[in-house]
Amino acid sequence: MPEDFEAFARRAGVHWTPELVRKVTGGKAHPIPPGEGALVLRALGLLAKDASMPADAVRKYGQIGHLVTLVEDAIGDLCRAFPTVRVLDAGCGSSYLTFLLAWCFSNRWRHPAELLGVDRDARVITKCRERALAAGLGDGLRFEALALSELDWAEAHARHFAHAEPPTRPHAVVALHACDTATCDALAKAITLEADFVAVAPCCQAELARGWSALAGEQTDGAFAPIWRAPQLRRELGASLTDAMRLLLLRGCGYEVTATEFVPSSHTPKNTLLRGVRRGRYLMDALSQYAALKAATGGIGIRLEELLPPEHRERLARAQALATP
Ligand SMILES: C[S@@+](CC[C@H](N)C(=O)[O-])C[C@H]1O[C@@H](n2cnc3c(N)ncnc32)[C@H](O)[C@@H]1O
Repeated sequence: MPEDFEAFARRAGVHWTPELVRKVTGGKAHPIPPGEGALVLRALGLLAKDASMPADAVRKYGQIGHLVTLVEDAIGDLCRAFPTVRVLDAGCGSSYLTFLLAWCFSNRWRHPAELLGVDRDARVITKCRERALAAGLGDGLRFEALALSELDWAEAHARHFAHAEPPTRPHAVVALHACDTATCDALAKAITLEADFVAVAPCCQAELARGWSALAGEQTDGAFAPIWRAPQLRRELGASLTDAMRLLLLRGCGYEVTATEFVPSSHTPKNTLLRGVRRGRYLMDALSQYAALKAATGGIGIRLEELLPPEHRERLARAQALATP
């Protein structure tokens, strides 16, 4: 570890007394205590040079801790099942969650892991690589500049991690605020690659609103027509229904799925976390519900539908045929 990192870690160890830690955590357990996780928190901009936490970082620190606790049980299961846990962060951007997961694998769960962050923006990838080095996490945490539609996970993973026999799938796929249909790209990767766990926090879901907007000009009847014609309502409802459709398609493809609020809506409206654990029970009912929801709201589907592997698309086509009179 370079000299100044060691000096910073020492400074943080002294700075973060139990009383001070209580002050920022409100007495709740936090998965990344600031004294121990000083380097990663500093790399993410949550600690100042003197190792203190600026007032505006305290809330973020609480939120990211909560996010880690929301995925911790599922990751614990992966640690018990696999000698090395492989994670894909799709549309990683600043990669907050992935940095924290990498830190937790090394320091909290003490389990080997290989984490790959992918983003189409080469500048953020360069930044992530610099931060990974600054956080002392370079070994198990790698980044690649690629659009998700171009990502061949096995090839990308093999470029960063050496294996005698290259693995064919990640165990977990995460995507936080991957804009609009990029969340569908991430879910499609998880389903196609049969990832055991998926966690996505969608944002900017505009696909249904776009489709409904086109319908507003063409059709005027139907129970949903008032929504098609009201831009604010179609955006709001479109976002929630997109996530409901994602949940149903995931269930139909063998995942047990929950939708949870992961930060209070007063902080951000983009606060739904969809978590799915692959059980392999392909629920035809869920595909029928997807088809019924799509038919009832105007017949506009979501991108994930088109990206499903052929066997799931065939099952969905059967469900849709039954839903359409
Ligand atoms: C709002 S940022 C969120 C980043 C990060 N996950 C976070 O929570 O801080 C969305 C990121 O997704 C990336 N992105 C959007 N669509 C993408 C795509 N199709 N392929 C790869 N990256 C994409 C953008 O470049 C951007 O960095």
